[in-house]
Amino acid sequence: MIVVTGATGSIGRALVARLRESGAEVLALVRRAEQGEELGVDYAVGDFERPSSVPMGDRLFLNTSPWPGFVQRHKEVIDRAVAEGVSQVVSVSVLGATPGAPLSGGLHGEVDAHLRKSGAAHAILEPVGFMQSLPREVADGRFYGSYGTGRTGYIDTRDIADVAFALLTGPVGESATHVLTGPEALSQQEIAARLTEALGRTVTYVDLSVEEMTRHAQERRGMPEATARELAEMMAAVPDSSWSRITSTVEDLTGHAPRSLADYLADHAADFAR
Ligand SMILES: NC(=O)c1ccc[n+]([C@@H]2O[C@H](COP(=O)([O-])OP(=O)(O)OC[C@H]3O[C@@H](n4cnc5c(N)ncnc54)[C@H](OP(=O)(O)O)[C@@H]3O)[C@@H](O)[C@H]2O)c1
Repeated sequence: MIVVTGATGSIGRALVARLRESGAEVLALVRRAEQGEELGVDYAVGDFERPSSVPMGDRLFLNTSPWPGFVQRHKEVIDRAVAEGVSQVVSVSVLGATPGAPLSGGLHGEVDAHLRKSGAAHAILEPVGFMQSLPREVADGRFYGSYGTGRTGYIDTRDIADVAFALLTGPVGESATHVLTGPEALSQQEIAARLTEALGRTVTYVDLSVEEMTRHAQERRGMPEATARELAEMMAAVPDSSWSRITSTVEDLTGHAPRSLADYLADHAADFAR
């Protein structure tokens, strides 16, 4: 049995759908029963805040989104997986995760380090930014950042799900870390042009200095100053970082090329509010 946590998230839903279609035995973890009814597979109600409520199967897909208890609770769930003899843990992290890294990279880095030394066979997925996060960024035809002309190889979360599907349904391989990207590294200006074309209305990327982006994230996204500054600095570092790197991992593991931004927009234009 394959246990899928984060089953209601953008990766989890796509993974559950693929597993359901394949006829695999799957158990989804949800926080509310009505979410489980929607998924159309067997489900258990639980929360990482109560690690003993996370079901264990033969294989475990480990995926939530960061909250203050993230590191401790994930470590406890990994320890349970080892104690209960789970044969493989496939975990979603983020590109560049390492203890002490800014934003969620530091939290993921600690969890990944724990998983690597846990003794469990594992695959750690290190994706770049998600295409599915773009609709949240765009408001009133604009989105903001301090990327300059930095490029990012944004990935469609359906491809992360496809990679997880391949890993969870194939033989348990050597433990490894997989850097996952989309097929092309785009600048924010190029993304704005693609959005404009696909949505049929003008979308503009507004490039800000680190100071301006820090204030923007505080005022418009309600972030505390330190977090807002980390975000702005991380964006400004993108031109010199590995975020523009493209890997062949999605195709290597799934047998199909990763979806392009055009593919994503063809299916998700309605997610962008007017
Ligand atoms: N967004 C990006 O651009 C990006 C880029 C790289 C890596 N990542 C990483 O990818 C992962 C998924 O991110 P996302 O934005 O795609 O998440 P998401 O779609 O919001 O999904 C998060 C899932 O985790 C579940 N969850 C959250 N807290 C939980 C808890 N305490 N116990 C049980 N389930 C819990 C949520 O359940 P509910 O439906 O009940 O809330 C939901 O199913 C995160 O680890 C993130 O750091 C994100």
